[in-house]
Amino acid sequence: MVGNVRILFSVFLLATQAIGLSAIPPWKKLHVPWKNHHSKEKSINKRQALAIDTTFNLPVPVKNAWPPGGNFASGIIDLGGLQVHETSTSASTLTKVWGVYEGGADGKGFSVYEPTGIPQGFHMLGSYSQPNNKPLFGWNLVAKDVSANTNNPTLKKPVNYKLVWNSGSLKIDQDGPIYVWLPIAPDGYKAVGHVVTNTTDQPSLDRVMCVRSDFTDQCETNNLIWGLDTFNVFDVRPSNRGIQAPGVRVGTFAAQTGTPNPPSIACLKNNNPIPKYMPNSEQIKAILQVYSPVMYLHPDEDYFPSSVEWFFTNGAVLYKKGQENPEMITPNGSNLPQDPHNDGAYYIGLPSAAAAQEKVKRGDLKSAISYVHVKPMFGGAFTDVAIWTFYPFNGPARAKVEFLTLNLGKIGEHVGDWEHVTLRLSNFNGELKQVYFSQHSKGMWLDSSEIEYQSGNKPMYYSSLHGHASYPHAGLHLLGQNNVGIRNDTAKGDSVLDLGAFQLVSAEYLGSEVVEPPWLNYYREWGPKIDYDIDEEVKKLEKMLPGRLKSTLENIVKKLPSEVLGEEGPTGPKVKDNWNGDER
Ligand SMILES: *[C@@H]1O[C@H](CO)[C@@H](O)[C@H](O)[C@H]1NC(C)=O
Ligand SMILES: *[C@@H]1O[C@H](CO)[C@@H](O)[C@H](O)[C@H]1NC(C)=O
Ligand SMILES: *[C@@H]1O[C@H](CO)[C@@H](O)[C@H](O)[C@H]1NC(C)=O
Repeated sequence: MVGNVRILFSVFLLATQAIGLSAIPPWKKLHVPWKNHHSKEKSINKRQALAIDTTFNLPVPVKNAWPPGGNFASGIIDLGGLQVHETSTSASTLTKVWGVYEGGADGKGFSVYEPTGIPQGFHMLGSYSQPNNKPLFGWNLVAKDVSANTNNPTLKKPVNYKLVWNSGSLKIDQDGPIYVWLPIAPDGYKAVGHVVTNTTDQPSLDRVMCVRSDFTDQCETNNLIWGLDTFNVFDVRPSNRGIQAPGVRVGTFAAQTGTPNPPSIACLKNNNPIPKYMPNSEQIKAILQVYSPVMYLHPDEDYFPSSVEWFFTNGAVLYKKGQENPEMITPNGSNLPQDPHNDGAYYIGLPSAAAAQEKVKRGDLKSAISYVHVKPMFGGAFTDVAIWTFYPFNGPARAKVEFLTLNLGKIGEHVGDWEHVTLRLSNFNGELKQVYFSQHSKGMWLDSSEIEYQSGNKPMYYSSLHGHASYPHAGLHLLGQNNVGIRNDTAKGDSVLDLGAFQLVSAEYLGSEVVEPPWLNYYREWGPKIDYDIDEEVKKLEKMLPGRLKSTLENIVKKLPSEVLGEEGPTGPKVKDNWNGDER
């Protein structure tokens, strides 16, 4: 059973492809050997089509997709005296003002956009920017003071500007020189974005508004959009994020020398109740109808998802420390301990009879549904829809050691495997902006423009063989370097889980409208702690490897996160940090 060694010949090729696919490219800050200066016309002629030349739109427009009621998707959010409205590339209300075509992600450069067609009474807060190696897709907020406070309006013009960067003297392929300005706010106000110009003249003080400090929250830099020498452009987000955090993401960028954190601009803050613009339960149903993902299992998968009820009614049992015999579990888990602690005194285990055990481990795709948690994000300007799936068993990890694939036997196996993906929607219009793919203790956000869809707006994703980590694209994803590491294979098999079959298990802001199933409030382990000797498992595996690869395998295993090793028993959705907080 241990060490099913398979030789794969196409592995080098596969691995190189997969590394490219495997994540938001962690490209380093560029050190571009800038090419010789060439004239603008020449470079435009030579310029290849860029991903950003295409504007991304969801496969099906969602404008009329939402049932009426409440404030969700009504176009404007009132932060308590300051109204904000979303301008976006998909609504053609962000217009390109400048681009550079070298450096940054994939060496393609980045572009800057400004809100246009701003509704009456609203003002620009700053510009938007994104790398050129992705389809054009982004948004940014404009604001209107509705405080009726003439002495202390929620918006005020800047008193001055500071020039943060200018590209005038650089011999780079760009749309003419650019001057990046930081608005200098009056006392008691803060800048939340930058203004750019194409001449050395300071922009007019009417171009942008600063925000009263009590409507701002601290920001942090997030992804690097572009950099040259010590100059960097970052997208920013509130430092404090989660269900109860009032910080609102503005969709502006921070341009600065070095990487000072917090950056020179602030985020917005919602002073109204955070849930005010969240979807009601009918709207949640519509959201799932429009966006419920479709999950593809690997063709060789042995351990399928199931419903929690199937797991409980097909033999899973509750063990209590100090008690010889385990207890059966009721279909909804009502006899699981319900206090919010993990004292290590309980765990869920498989049935002891071998045949029953094997059956439960295999799962039951027919019974499987998804478990949905809906929560506010970014001060309630966004809705996060976390969609959980349950697998009774996580199969053995698989390693790639040069040309060999090793099944790591007991290493990586555990009972009770919770996985999730999260949809992030704008509460201005219900547009899907990003999707998070969880990969055990980590994961990645991708923009809606970077994922695959089927049947309209339904995101497709792939569950990795045995480990069930979620990936946006099929292929080999390797945790490691130089052709050596733990492999997560994904492929479009015939086994598919339509996550549109769902149960809404929690939406705190809807109060008693949503009844949480008892199993959700079980804070203890969903599987036993590790009960094998890792060193011994490694020794068994090493017998099958040529000498020089033995130490390589040891190194792989040593570097495995404890979740893969199964040292920590797996816990349920509510125990994970992302239940109340942002994804990592
Ligand atoms: C400079 O920017 C203004 C708008 O701010 C635009 O009308 C003009 O065409 C730009 N000039 C160049 C050379 O890009
Ligand atoms: C759970 O199931 C039990 C019966 O096993 C039932 O009495 C109880 O009402 C159910 N609880 C919930 C919250 O559905
Ligand atoms: C591969 O899967 C393991 C768990 O099975 C996970 O911890 C790891 O992050 C994944 N690696 C990559 C590169 O996605």
